Amino acid sequence: MVPFKRRKLVCSAAGSHTGATGSHEGATGSHEGATGSHEGTRFPQVVLFLLERKMGASRRRFLSQLGEKKGFQVEQLLSERVTHVICENNSSEEVRTWLRSEVGGQTAAHLLDVSWFTESMKAGRPVEVLDRHKLQEQQTEEVEVFSTPSYACQRRTTLDNHNAVLTDALSLLAENAELSGEDGRGVAFRRAAAALKALPLPVTRLTQLGGVPCLGGHSLRVIKDVLESGASPEVEALRRSERFKALKVLTGIFGVGVKTAGRWIGEGILTLRQLRDSGPTLNRAQRAGLRHYDDLNRPVGRAEAAAVAAVVEAAAGSVLPGARVTLIGGFRRGKQTGHDVDFLITHPEEGREAGLMPKLVSWLDSQGFLLYQKTNSNSYLEAAEGPARPASNMDRFERCFSVFKLPEEAGRGGAGAGGEGGPRPWRAVRVDLVVSPVSQFAFALLGWTGSKLFERELRRWAGHEMNMCLSSHALYDHRQSRYLRASSEEEIFAHLGLEYIPPSERNA
Ligand code: UTP
Ligand code: MN
Repeated sequence: MVPFKRRKLVCSAAGSHTGATGSHEGATGSHEGATGSHEGTRFPQVVLFLLERKMGASRRRFLSQLGEKKGFQVEQLLSERVTHVICENNSSEEVRTWLRSEVGGQTAAHLLDVSWFTESMKAGRPVEVLDRHKLQEQQTEEVEVFSTPSYACQRRTTLDNHNAVLTDALSLLAENAELSGEDGRGVAFRRAAAALKALPLPVTRLTQLGGVPCLGGHSLRVIKDVLESGASPEVEALRRSERFKALKVLTGIFGVGVKTAGRWIGEGILTLRQLRDSGPTLNRAQRAGLRHYDDLNRPVGRAEAAAVAAVVEAAAGSVLPGARVTLIGGFRRGKQTGHDVDFLITHPEEGREAGLMPKLVSWLDSQGFLLYQKTNSNSYLEAAEGPARPASNMDRFERCFSVFKLPEEAGRGGAGAGGEGGPRPWRAVRVDLVVSPVSQFAFALLGWTGSKLFERELRRWAGHEMNMCLSSHALYDHRQSRYLRASSEEEIFAHLGLEYIPPSERNA
């Protein structure tokens, strides 16, 4: 009679939280528990309930009697008096589910493994509840399903990459494709990596990627391998491959492209030593690249970039007062290091920038700042009928590829430069200078800030979605058959029907 009544009461109390009265009835009833023992009063603060699920009825009965013999209060039914729920072979999730389905509610009691019970029996008193006694939470974290727009120029990609393990693997495959002359495959891997870079959290399961664009079968296979075993066998094999290592070393020489490196490898040249020994004819850029190999493969830091900027500003100010120098490339996007330092130079009066580059270069040279330089002249002219083909953003500006001789100042992190006897007095740094007329400045700024993939996606968006042609010089609207002017990056995004993305969020 009493147990039956109590059972009903427990159910409703736990379910509807009207437990105050119920708990008192439970309290008075507890001493008349099934075992009928009255010894369970030594530890008034502790009320046990042993869960039969998986423990089994006979073991439960045995343990209950043991507990009472040791002076513990053991409840046969779950009530709000219960402070410790003892379970065997159950996860906390299973117990909570059981509580919900069997009792129709939850409990504030400790959910403990039987180890706490047996230790307490041994100790003859309730032992302190430690983490190892608590039931393990199952790893049922809410898995978010990600989704992100398909063009990188529609996304905000900061330097805060939550999926570096995945994007490193994909970037390596992209690099290998590019080094093997397979640009299409390279872009596919770059796009896949970029989509993951934009996600707000680390990916833990493949099923989260339902709404993520640009993930082809190959990329998904790599992602799956990395998620499941921490690494992709294909990527690890590539990392170790002699050909890949040789391509990296040889294209790491300033002035050596994919074709040249491939040819040398075909001739059995895999290392710098072999290159030096077997002596194929090198051009001027490659000779400088080989001479300064270590410096040019050592990342340039922000302080060094600032030091280069000071030199370039002094040069520009001296040969063309009023000239404006802007740091572009990765450093404008907020990167802490780069493989080079890029500058865009203009003058607020259209036309005054003409002929600036040769003067700039000869000033730098005369001051001893140049180890190497090669200048191209500006060949970009707007055609009345629009751009004949997508402008190569490569070589139509007045542009100078150079290697600077940058004095190492005390305190600027140049410790790596010196062999014996401390830092050398200077290091070699790759510097790119671009001069643009002020009328093209916004396009040049947008085009040279990067990242490379962001730029590529901007041009793809312009062409495919807007029927426009974007270059680092201009934006042409095919529908209106005219060039669209802009004096800021914001205006260009607006012409393209895109939300403005600041440089720090163009790290696709
Ligand atoms: P970089 O190759 O210098 O890349 O090109 P980065 O982003 O600054 O990265 P690190 O740190 O130096 O390695 C800078 C930008 O200039 C554009 C690229 O699109 C990139 O956005 N660029 C580069 C061109 O438009 N044409 C080129 O010939 C080279
Ligand atoms: Mn750069």
